Amino acid sequence: MTTIRRIGVLTGGGDCPGLNAVIRAVTKTAMHQYKLEVLGIEDGYLGLIQNRMRLLQWNDVSNILTLGGTILGTSNQANPQCFAIERSGKTEWVDVTDRVVDHVRANELDAVVCIGGDGTMTGAANLIKNGINCIGVPKTIDNDLEGCERTFGFDTAVHTAVECFDKIHTTAMSHHRVMVVEVMGRNAGWLALHSGVASGADVILIPEIPYDLDVIAAVLYERSKKGKRFSILCVSEGAKPKGGDVVVQRRVETSPDPIRLGGIANKLVADIEERTKLDARATVLGHIQRGGSPTPADRVLATQFGYHALEILMKGAHGQLVVQQAGRLAEVPIESVAGKQRKVPPDDPLVSTARAVGTCFGD
Ligand code: F6P
Repeated sequence: MTTIRRIGVLTGGGDCPGLNAVIRAVTKTAMHQYKLEVLGIEDGYLGLIQNRMRLLQWNDVSNILTLGGTILGTSNQANPQCFAIERSGKTEWVDVTDRVVDHVRANELDAVVCIGGDGTMTGAANLIKNGINCIGVPKTIDNDLEGCERTFGFDTAVHTAVECFDKIHTTAMSHHRVMVVEVMGRNAGWLALHSGVASGADVILIPEIPYDLDVIAAVLYERSKKGKRFSILCVSEGAKPKGGDVVVQRRVETSPDPIRLGGIANKLVADIEERTKLDARATVLGHIQRGGSPTPADRVLATQFGYHALEILMKGAHGQLVVQQAGRLAEVPIESVAGKQRKVPPDDPLVSTARAVGTCFGD
């Protein structure tokens, strides 16, 4: 078994609340419990490609538990296997894994703790194949990492969204409007499902259950017949009509996952107004869901994840992702989750609960 003396830590992909709490837990456990040195790698895999890392001191990770974002910086456009470089004014895609391996060896890192989502785990799986020990920590507001029932950042994003829904509610009531609120989540509906249920949305649209506009229009009519002169729709950015497709906002060609979703709320408002003649408005919550201080639940989860990553590493783990399963900390091989997304099963208990209280899923 390799003796662990020095480790690296990086945060990859889109940021989310709780990243600093994990960095703190990893670094403090490493220093306090195991007397290790920790190098903070800047901007995710970009820092490994460009050899940008610094020795973290205790003070660097003090007072960051409650801080949103990441003190290390992040990037969702740096995949060592397919890295964009400019040559004679043209973009070329090259595999720079060897360069990353050289930098890991030159800095004498015995392991790298990779805090990130599926893109970061795909990158970690490649490094593991090339002889680098990586331990994964599951991050994302989307809560869509395979094999893990709860990622940190999700709870905070739901809280943020629900605060916004509560505000939308009062203006919707005053103006007797249909308010369509778009939340993030990529191709998984967890964020929409939880924030929609928590805010009492009348209609929740998620990618896993394609919607029918006629069904939505009927619900809106039914509500107004009963004297409810406003309605709230919670729409996942990845929602799509039956037989139709998602709304793509942009393509980020240098990103491992180039599609950026967004715009479904505006499309729905146009469709609903045309179909029902009701007054409708769209609100896109966007990156506000990724910002701010983590909730207490996320601070606790992030701290547990960071601690557990060090515990399993010191017990000899190689290429494992820390996960939560049935409420307990566990680990699964990173290669078994790389490139996969955990979707909402259409018969998820929370979907059934929402249906039972009269929420429409547009189907
Ligand atoms: O994966 C997190 C997430 O916020 C998704 O919910 C969203 O689709 C995407 O990242 C947005 O990415 P970007 O920050 O590149 O616009």
